[in-house]
Amino acid sequence: MAKRTLSGTSLDTLVSLAKRRGFVFQSSEIYGGLSSIWDYGPVGVELKRNVKDAWWKSMVRERDDIVGMDASILMHPDVWVASGHLDGFSDPLVECNECHRRYREDQVEGDVCPTCGGDFGPARQFNLLLKTFLGPVEDDTATVYLRPETAQAMFVNFENVQTTSRKKIPFGIAQIGKSFRNEITPGNFTFRTREFEQMEMEYFCEPGTDDEWHEYWMNFSMDWFKSHGIRGEKLMLRKHDADELPHYSKASADVEYEFPWGWGELETISNRTDYDLKAHTEKSGRDLSYFDDQQKKRFVPFVVEPAMGADRSALAFLADAYDEEGEGKEMRVVLRFHPDIAPFQVAVLPLSKKDTLSPTARRVYDVLRQQFNTQYDDTQSIGRRYRRQDEIGTPLCVTVDFDTLDDDSVTIRNRDTMEQVRVPIENLESAIRDLMNEMRADCQG
Ligand code: GAP
Repeated sequence: MAKRTLSGTSLDTLVSLAKRRGFVFQSSEIYGGLSSIWDYGPVGVELKRNVKDAWWKSMVRERDDIVGMDASILMHPDVWVASGHLDGFSDPLVECNECHRRYREDQVEGDVCPTCGGDFGPARQFNLLLKTFLGPVEDDTATVYLRPETAQAMFVNFENVQTTSRKKIPFGIAQIGKSFRNEITPGNFTFRTREFEQMEMEYFCEPGTDDEWHEYWMNFSMDWFKSHGIRGEKLMLRKHDADELPHYSKASADVEYEFPWGWGELETISNRTDYDLKAHTEKSGRDLSYFDDQQKKRFVPFVVEPAMGADRSALAFLADAYDEEGEGKEMRVVLRFHPDIAPFQVAVLPLSKKDTLSPTARRVYDVLRQQFNTQYDDTQSIGRRYRRQDEIGTPLCVTVDFDTLDDDSVTIRNRDTMEQVRVPIENLESAIRDLMNEMRADCQG
């Protein structure tokens, strides 16, 4: 219930917590860092993995109508000609005539440089595709692109996946993977970067049913964030105006989260119509239509696409979970993650490092780690260890103390209420499951 009154915080505090506790580090830090590129540390990698696993579970494992795939980052360059990215995937760029800083035209307020007040030169379109060369010769014939979205691999593999999975329309293909965009103005920590991870699903349906499916996937997306702990009042669904629709879309809406600096997009749900399948049919010469054997008719499926960013979602989960309790020296920083999103679910903490407690604590740890993502920590005072676990959002701490040697029981401490209960080791797993279910229920956005 404490979830409802989270204090929230500034981006600077989140960035410093992220570094201090091993969530996120700047890339190549010892060389001065690489601008807007980030590395996930031991705690952050678990957080992002949990976000991706939760999405995969809801999208693929729990459904009969969606299958997964994992394509290469590099694709035939004609893919990007057909998709429209080579010609049209650009942002308007302006350069200051005085300091030569470059900005995205639609992200500067007014018509002078925000850094030095100089005038801008004329706007030009800047293509966001990152290029590299395949093979030993660096010329135009060897140019390939780092994919700017994972989606295209699901369109070009539509026939392969449909025939091998024997799925009938409507069905979807889901994928999680890296994408790259040469953003003009990346920023806000991991929110806008040049290398990032996407979680995308292309849902192929019969033309005429697409509006209904668009509505369905918009609702699904909002519910997904809420059911994994993001507070409903921090989320909104914003439908695109006609002039901001991507070139392939008939209708799009963004799920937005209220970050410390304002509202930002986590996911776009688009009705991509038959744009992509038709474009690839035309460019490749391969017919990507579908024969519906019940209706005895052939058509090019329409596609509804929920496209979510894994890094942005992880950042939203981090920002949303942040809470401060008390004041001054008594202040407690606690991340109130949903138990399925928390980097670690349980920490086993022997009260002292003495050899007398270690074998029992290790035995408890070995049992729990089979079921839950569990940390073992026997460094520093118990108070400091609780504080550390609160700051990485571990829902439950299991303390092994000297009484454990007599009564074979341990203490479970609840992150949110700080209540402690004594439980026999033989009942520990089921007690943890029950407590985590209660915390899941408390976390419903
Ligand atoms: N296939 C459609 C597509 O890529 P998008 O709205 O451009 O749509 C989907 O991207 C999601 O990918 C975004 O909502 C965002 O979460 C994430 N994303 C896009 N560009 C990003 C960037 N530069 N840095 C981090 N995440 C990004």
